[in-house]
Amino acid sequence: MTAPIIYEDTIESIDLIDDNVLVGPNYDILTKHIMPGGLEVPPIGLGSSDDLKKNDNQKISQFLNAIESGYRLIDTAYKYDNQRHLGLAIRQLMDTTNITRNDLIVVTKVWSTFHTRERAFENVKMELQDLQFDYSDFGLIHYPISITPHESNPREYFTYSANGSIQTPYPQRDVGYLEAWRGLEAAERLGLVKYIGLANFNIHQIKRILSVAVVKPVVVQVECHPLYRNDKLTNWIKAHNMSVMCYSPLRKCSPELVNNNVLQEVADKHKRTVYQVSLRWNMQRGHIVIPRSFDKHHQKENLDSLNFALDQQDMDKINAIPQLQKIIYPGNLLPISMPSHPDYPFGEDDDN
Ligand SMILES: NC(=O)c1ccc[n+]([C@@H]2O[C@H](COP(=O)([O-])OP(=O)(O)OC[C@H]3O[C@@H](n4cnc5c(N)ncnc54)[C@H](OP(=O)(O)O)[C@@H]3O)[C@@H](O)[C@H]2O)c1
Repeated sequence: MTAPIIYEDTIESIDLIDDNVLVGPNYDILTKHIMPGGLEVPPIGLGSSDDLKKNDNQKISQFLNAIESGYRLIDTAYKYDNQRHLGLAIRQLMDTTNITRNDLIVVTKVWSTFHTRERAFENVKMELQDLQFDYSDFGLIHYPISITPHESNPREYFTYSANGSIQTPYPQRDVGYLEAWRGLEAAERLGLVKYIGLANFNIHQIKRILSVAVVKPVVVQVECHPLYRNDKLTNWIKAHNMSVMCYSPLRKCSPELVNNNVLQEVADKHKRTVYQVSLRWNMQRGHIVIPRSFDKHHQKENLDSLNFALDQQDMDKINAIPQLQKIIYPGNLLPISMPSHPDYPFGEDDDN
C-alpha cells in the first residue's frame, strides 16, 4: 500500500461538487477496488462481528479457512469483543503458512466511549494490543454517537446507572466525534493506522468531519444491500471522493432478501445464487462488501461473486426493488433509546 494521503480540501471546496455527479474513485472490480489516491484493496472482505468473542474453536478455524481461501480484507471492531481471539488465530496462521501481516488488510473501529482525542488514540492502541499488530490498515470511528465512558474500567463498553440502565448523556455533546477524529489523525501520524475513516455517519456529520480534518477520511462504512440501497448517502460519499464499504451486504441473510423474486430471477439467469447477485450488484456500483460467514461453502460462494458480471438490465431490475428500512440501528450494539441522542445518525439521509 502507498503512503497516507493528505487532502487540502476545505468544506467549501468540497461543497462545490454537484451531489448528482459521480466523480468518486475509479473501480476495476474484477480484481480490486481502487480507493481515492490509488490505494488498492479487494472489493470483497470478511465481516467478523461478535461471533468470535467466545473462544469457539470451530468458528476460529472457519475464520482462518476464509483467509487461507483468499480473503485478505478483514473487518473487526473493539466493540465486537473479538480482537484478542482474532489476533491469536491470525498469529497461528502466520506461523504455519506463508501469509504475513502485510498480506492482510485489517479494519479496526474506535468505540463510542472513546470520543476524546486522547481516548480515541488510546482505543486504537488497545485494539492493536489485542490483535498483537503493530498497525491497523483502516481505523474508523464506529458510530458518531458518543457515550459516557466507565469511570473506573476503561475497557467497559457502557456505564450503568445504579438501577442497571445504561447512561447515555455525554459531557462533550456534539463535539465527541470531532475529537475522536483528532485521535485517529494522531494515530495515523504515528503509523498506528495507515488510513482513517468513518462508520454510520450521515452527510451532515461527515461534512463536519471534513470541515476540521487535516487527513480526509478515505472510506465510510454504511449499511447497503439491494433492499436498502442507501443511494443518497452512498452517492454523496463517492461524489466526495471517498470509498463506500457496505456492511450487512446480505441483510443478515433475512428472508426478505433470500426469497426476493427479482434477485432470484437474476440469479437463475446467471446460474448463481441470490447471495452472489447481491454482492456482485454492490461491487458493480463501486462499493466494497464485507459479508460475514463462518461456513466454508458460503465463504467460497461469496468470493466467487467476483467471477461473473451483471448486465445493465440486471442492475436496473435490482435498482428497482422496493426498499425496506435499514436493518442495523445503534440499538443492535447500544441497547438504549438512541433517536433522542444529539448525534443519532439515521433518518435524515434516507431516500428509500
Ligand atoms: N460498522 C457497523 O456498524 C457494522 C454493522 C453491522 C455489521 N458490520 C460488519 O459487516 C459485517 C457483515 O454484516 P452482518 O454480519 O451484519 O451481515 P451479513 O454479512 O449481511 O450476513 C451474515 C449472515 O449471512 C450468512 N451468509 C453469508 N454468506 C452466505 C451465503 N453465501 N449463503 C447463505 N448464507 C450466507 C451468514 O451465515 P453463515 O455463517 O452460515 O454463512 C450470516 O448469518 C459484520 O460481520 C461486521 O464485520 C459493521
